[in-house]
Amino acid sequence: MTTTMISKPSPLTPTETHHPAYSQSLPCTEESVGITRLSVAATLRAWGLEDLVDDARLIASELATNAIRHATRHTPDPEQRGSFRLKVERPSENLVRISTFDRSRAVPRVVQATETAESGRGMAAVEAVACRWGIDPKPWGKGIWAECAKDSPKPDTEAVILPAWCP
Ligand SMILES: Nc1ncnc2c1ncn2[C@@H]1O[C@H](COP(=O)(O)OP(=O)(O)OP(=O)(O)O)[C@@H](O)[C@H]1O
Ligand SMILES: [Mg+2]
Repeated sequence: MTTTMISKPSPLTPTETHHPAYSQSLPCTEESVGITRLSVAATLRAWGLEDLVDDARLIASELATNAIRHATRHTPDPEQRGSFRLKVERPSENLVRISTFDRSRAVPRVVQATETAESGRGMAAVEAVACRWGIDPKPWGKGIWAECAKDSPKPDTEAVILPAWCP
Protein backbone atom coordinates (compact mmCIF):
# COMPACT_ATOMS: atom_id res chain seq x y z
CA MET A 1 0.00 0.00 0.00
CA THR A 2 1.26 3.46 -0.78
CA THR A 3 0.56 6.53 1.26
CA THR A 4 0.74 10.06 -0.04
CA MET A 5 1.97 12.82 2.18
CA ILE A 6 -0.22 15.88 1.84
CA SER A 7 1.28 19.11 3.04
CA LYS A 8 -0.71 21.23 5.41
CA PRO A 9 -0.99 24.94 4.73
CA SER A 10 2.17 26.62 5.98
CA PRO A 11 2.41 30.09 7.55
CA LEU A 12 2.55 33.14 5.34
CA THR A 13 6.12 34.02 4.51
CA PRO A 14 7.47 37.42 3.48
CA THR A 15 9.01 37.56 0.02
CA GLU A 16 11.92 39.59 -1.27
CA THR A 17 9.48 42.15 -2.68
CA HIS A 18 7.90 42.51 0.78
CA HIS A 19 4.35 41.96 -0.29
CA PRO A 20 2.56 39.15 1.50
CA ALA A 21 2.83 35.74 -0.13
CA TYR A 22 1.88 32.19 0.59
CA SER A 23 3.57 29.24 -1.06
CA GLN A 24 3.19 25.50 -0.76
CA SER A 25 4.55 22.43 -2.49
CA LEU A 26 1.93 19.76 -3.18
CA PRO A 27 2.13 16.25 -4.64
CA CYS A 28 0.81 15.76 -8.18
CA THR A 29 -2.24 13.80 -7.06
CA GLU A 30 -5.94 14.58 -7.39
CA GLU A 31 -6.21 15.18 -3.62
CA SER A 32 -4.04 18.25 -4.00
CA VAL A 33 -6.78 20.11 -5.88
CA GLY A 34 -8.92 20.20 -2.73
CA ILE A 35 -5.95 21.31 -0.60
CA THR A 36 -5.24 24.04 -3.15
CA ARG A 37 -8.80 25.34 -2.94
CA LEU A 38 -8.76 25.33 0.87
CA SER A 39 -5.35 27.00 1.06
CA VAL A 40 -6.29 29.78 -1.33
CA ALA A 41 -9.59 30.47 0.40
CA ALA A 42 -7.93 30.51 3.84
CA THR A 43 -5.20 32.88 2.64
CA LEU A 44 -7.62 35.35 1.06
CA ARG A 45 -9.85 35.31 4.14
CA ALA A 46 -6.81 35.96 6.33
CA TRP A 47 -6.11 38.98 4.12
CA GLY A 48 -9.71 40.20 4.40
CA LEU A 49 -10.33 39.61 0.67
CA GLU A 50 -13.50 37.57 0.99
CA ASP A 51 -14.88 39.11 -2.24
CA LEU A 52 -12.12 37.48 -4.26
CA VAL A 53 -12.39 34.01 -2.76
CA ASP A 54 -14.69 32.52 -5.43
CA ASP A 55 -12.68 33.74 -8.42
CA ALA A 56 -9.32 32.96 -6.83
CA ARG A 57 -10.47 29.47 -5.84
CA LEU A 58 -11.67 28.76 -9.37
CA ILE A 59 -8.37 29.97 -10.87
CA ALA A 60 -6.31 27.96 -8.40
CA SER A 61 -8.40 24.87 -8.91
CA GLU A 62 -8.01 24.96 -12.72
CA LEU A 63 -4.29 25.71 -12.61
CA ALA A 64 -3.63 22.98 -10.05
CA THR A 65 -5.68 20.43 -11.99
CA ASN A 66 -3.69 21.27 -15.11
CA ALA A 67 -0.37 21.02 -13.29
CA ILE A 68 -1.34 17.58 -12.04
CA ARG A 69 -2.94 16.30 -15.23
CA HIS A 70 -0.99 17.83 -18.11
CA ALA A 71 2.46 18.44 -16.66
CA THR A 72 2.72 14.79 -15.64
CA ARG A 73 1.05 13.24 -18.68
CA HIS A 74 4.27 11.46 -19.71
CA THR A 75 4.78 9.94 -16.26
CA PRO A 76 2.37 7.02 -15.93
CA ASP A 77 3.67 5.93 -12.52
CA PRO A 78 1.91 8.08 -9.88
CA GLU A 79 4.85 7.54 -7.54
CA GLN A 80 7.13 9.36 -9.96
CA ARG A 81 4.95 12.37 -10.63
CA GLY A 82 6.59 14.61 -8.07
CA SER A 83 5.08 17.86 -6.97
CA PHE A 84 3.96 21.28 -8.11
CA ARG A 85 4.13 24.57 -6.27
CA LEU A 86 1.21 26.81 -5.45
CA LYS A 87 1.79 30.48 -4.73
CA VAL A 88 -0.66 33.15 -3.64
CA GLU A 89 0.58 36.73 -3.63
CA ARG A 90 -0.91 40.10 -2.89
CA PRO A 91 1.11 42.50 -5.06
CA SER A 92 -1.04 45.43 -3.96
CA GLU A 93 -3.93 46.20 -1.64
CA ASN A 94 -6.70 44.97 -3.97
CA LEU A 95 -4.82 42.60 -6.24
CA VAL A 96 -4.21 38.89 -5.83
CA ARG A 97 -1.98 36.70 -7.99
CA ILE A 98 -2.36 32.93 -8.03
CA SER A 99 0.45 30.87 -9.57
CA THR A 100 1.32 27.25 -10.06
CA PHE A 101 4.77 26.02 -11.02
CA ASP A 102 5.32 22.65 -12.64
CA ARG A 103 8.17 20.78 -14.31
CA SER A 104 6.75 20.56 -17.82
CA ARG A 105 7.83 23.06 -20.45
CA ALA A 106 4.61 22.51 -22.43
CA VAL A 107 2.40 25.58 -22.08
CA PRO A 108 -1.34 26.00 -21.60
CA ARG A 109 -3.57 27.45 -24.26
CA VAL A 110 -7.13 28.69 -24.26
CA VAL A 111 -9.18 26.20 -26.24
CA GLN A 112 -12.53 26.90 -27.90
CA ALA A 113 -14.34 23.85 -26.58
CA THR A 114 -17.34 22.65 -28.57
CA GLU A 115 -20.74 22.20 -26.90
CA THR A 116 -20.18 18.47 -26.55
CA ALA A 117 -16.48 18.48 -25.61
CA GLU A 118 -15.78 16.94 -22.22
CA SER A 119 -12.70 19.04 -21.59
CA GLY A 120 -10.99 22.18 -22.75
CA ARG A 121 -12.76 24.76 -20.58
CA GLY A 122 -10.32 25.29 -17.73
CA MET A 123 -8.12 28.00 -19.20
CA ALA A 124 -11.13 29.70 -20.80
CA ALA A 125 -12.65 29.93 -17.30
CA VAL A 126 -9.40 31.33 -15.91
CA GLU A 127 -9.28 33.91 -18.67
CA ALA A 128 -12.91 34.85 -18.02
CA VAL A 129 -12.48 35.61 -14.31
CA ALA A 130 -8.89 36.90 -14.25
CA CYS A 131 -7.86 40.51 -15.03
CA ARG A 132 -4.88 39.00 -16.82
CA TRP A 133 -2.88 35.81 -16.88
CA GLY A 134 0.45 34.69 -18.23
CA ILE A 135 3.24 32.16 -18.43
CA ASP A 136 6.59 32.44 -16.69
CA PRO A 137 9.02 30.08 -18.50
CA LYS A 138 11.73 28.48 -16.36
CA PRO A 139 14.69 26.29 -17.33
CA TRP A 140 13.05 23.41 -15.45
CA GLY A 141 9.40 23.99 -16.47
CA LYS A 142 7.14 27.02 -16.07
CA GLY A 143 4.93 29.06 -13.85
CA ILE A 144 1.39 30.00 -14.83
CA TRP A 145 -0.15 32.96 -13.05
CA ALA A 146 -3.49 34.74 -13.07
CA GLU A 147 -4.54 37.88 -11.23
CA CYS A 148 -7.88 39.03 -9.93
CA ALA A 149 -8.69 42.37 -8.40
CA LYS A 150 -11.21 43.73 -5.97
CA ASP A 151 -13.45 46.60 -7.11
CA SER A 152 -11.87 46.65 -10.54
CA PRO A 153 -13.83 45.98 -13.75
CA LYS A 154 -12.23 43.42 -16.04
CA PRO A 155 -10.46 45.21 -18.89
CA ASP A 156 -12.49 43.57 -21.66
CA THR A 157 -15.85 43.63 -19.86
CA GLU A 158 -18.29 46.16 -21.23
CA ALA A 159 -20.48 47.84 -18.67
CA VAL A 160 -24.20 47.45 -19.36
CA ILE A 161 -25.69 50.93 -19.11
CA LEU A 162 -29.41 50.88 -18.56
CA PRO A 163 -31.52 53.72 -19.96
CA ALA A 164 -32.51 56.32 -17.40
CA TRP A 165 -36.19 55.26 -17.42
CA CYS A 166 -35.31 51.71 -16.36
CA PRO A 167 -36.81 50.84 -12.96
N1 LIG B 1 0.22 23.00 -16.74
C1 LIG B 1 0.14 22.64 -18.03
N2 LIG B 1 1.18 22.00 -18.64
C2 LIG B 1 1.12 21.64 -19.93
N3 LIG B 1 0.06 21.85 -20.73
C3 LIG B 1 -1.00 22.46 -20.19
C4 LIG B 1 -1.03 22.89 -18.82
N4 LIG B 1 -2.22 23.48 -18.57
C5 LIG B 1 -2.92 23.40 -19.71
N5 LIG B 1 -2.21 22.79 -20.70
C6 LIG B 1 -2.63 22.60 -22.09
O1 LIG B 1 -3.65 23.53 -22.40
C7 LIG B 1 -4.83 22.84 -22.81
C8 LIG B 1 -6.06 23.58 -22.35
O2 LIG B 1 -6.19 23.49 -20.93
P1 LIG B 1 -7.63 23.60 -20.28
O3 LIG B 1 -7.44 23.64 -18.81
O4 LIG B 1 -8.36 24.74 -20.91
O5 LIG B 1 -8.39 22.29 -20.75
P2 LIG B 1 -8.28 20.80 -20.19
O6 LIG B 1 -7.42 20.75 -18.99
O7 LIG B 1 -7.87 19.95 -21.35
O8 LIG B 1 -9.79 20.45 -19.81
P3 LIG B 1 -10.64 20.95 -18.53
O9 LIG B 1 -9.81 21.99 -17.83
O10 LIG B 1 -11.91 21.52 -19.10
O11 LIG B 1 -10.84 19.73 -17.71
C9 LIG B 1 -4.68 21.43 -22.24
O12 LIG B 1 -5.41 20.48 -23.00
C10 LIG B 1 -3.20 21.20 -22.34
O13 LIG B 1 -2.83 20.79 -23.64
MG1 LIG C 1 -7.76 22.04 -17.38
